[in-house]
Amino acid sequence: MEYRIAVIEGDGIGPEIVREARKVLLRIAALYGHHFEFRELLMGGSSIDRFGEPLTEETLEKCRASDAVLMGSIGGKVGVSPWYLLPPEKRPEAGLLKLRKGLGLFCNLRPAKLYPELRNACPLRESVIGDGFDLMMVRELTGGLYFGERSTVREGGELVARDELCYRESEIRRVARKAFSIAGGRRGRLCSVDKANVLDSSRLWRRIVEEEGKACPEVELSHALVDSTAMLLVRKPGSFDVILTENMFGDILSDEMAEIAGSLGMLPSASLREDRFGLYEPSGGSAPDIAGQNIANPLAAILSAAMLLRYSLELPKEAEDVETAVEKVLRDGCRTKDILEEKKGLKLLSTEEMGEEVAAKLRGPLR
Ligand code: IPM
Ligand code: MG
Repeated sequence: MEYRIAVIEGDGIGPEIVREARKVLLRIAALYGHHFEFRELLMGGSSIDRFGEPLTEETLEKCRASDAVLMGSIGGKVGVSPWYLLPPEKRPEAGLLKLRKGLGLFCNLRPAKLYPELRNACPLRESVIGDGFDLMMVRELTGGLYFGERSTVREGGELVARDELCYRESEIRRVARKAFSIAGGRRGRLCSVDKANVLDSSRLWRRIVEEEGKACPEVELSHALVDSTAMLLVRKPGSFDVILTENMFGDILSDEMAEIAGSLGMLPSASLREDRFGLYEPSGGSAPDIAGQNIANPLAAILSAAMLLRYSLELPKEAEDVETAVEKVLRDGCRTKDILEEKKGLKLLSTEEMGEEVAAKLRGPLR
């Protein structure tokens, strides 16, 4: 089959890690007889440098005309990069938000699982890790504080900044439905996270999620407050299956999840809507401090490519092949710098070598 994949390498380590994800996809194409047409597009800082804005209409259109978008990461160092001297709506992050909104990607999946080989990279105590954890965050991605009205004005002789937090019933309902369906396909437990003891938007959130839960009695639904969830994640991470939450809480909790899973360099993500189209990117940032050194961990980008195969191209066997290959390289002791530990038998690999190891471990269809 032929598929069209838009590729946004992005800034910082983006180009290095996306290159390895593409390498893996090309190997999959060769093994399974698919054809992937990659279309390179600019977004974020690199688009600012070229076109003076972080996301052009043309790039957005080209993304829309693809089956899926594979992305690296965008942005630079605040205070160092000239991009941050621009007004907020012209900065790299504004491009990412416009892309998510413009493509209607309201449902962001961030799976965090602790690979047995990476137990030592997890900062939690052995007794807390227990049997490990395998959790999935479903983060609402096109509403809430990120997309409300903003203003900074002078009032009564001082500056006042406002950010509106608004959620519509329909926005909550559609992401809740996705979360129930995902929980139904996993261990059947969904924890909806809010701040219903303070916020109206959270009280509506809880009410709508509760309503949607009535249609899914097979999924065990619970509600938790975001502060207590932040605590439980480091105290009993194994107690979660699927976490559903709004945009801002999801942003914060997903970095915490990445940390306990060993490294931001391990966490993939998929941003979806109702149809098969999606955008796939590592959950971590552009890590400008290590960019261009060939030391970044490409596994989050490679695992994002696996999610692309699964959700957008509907190629579950191929997706599994990639995920199994990643498990194998970890089992073989291959490590990039971020997940290396002092232990016999481990091999320190560059970004490029890690990509090659994964590509070499792909098995293809069983003949
Ligand atoms: C993320 C990132 C983005 C977000 C930034 C870069 C705008 O932190 O994907 O988690 O806040 O959503
Ligand atoms: Mg974030």
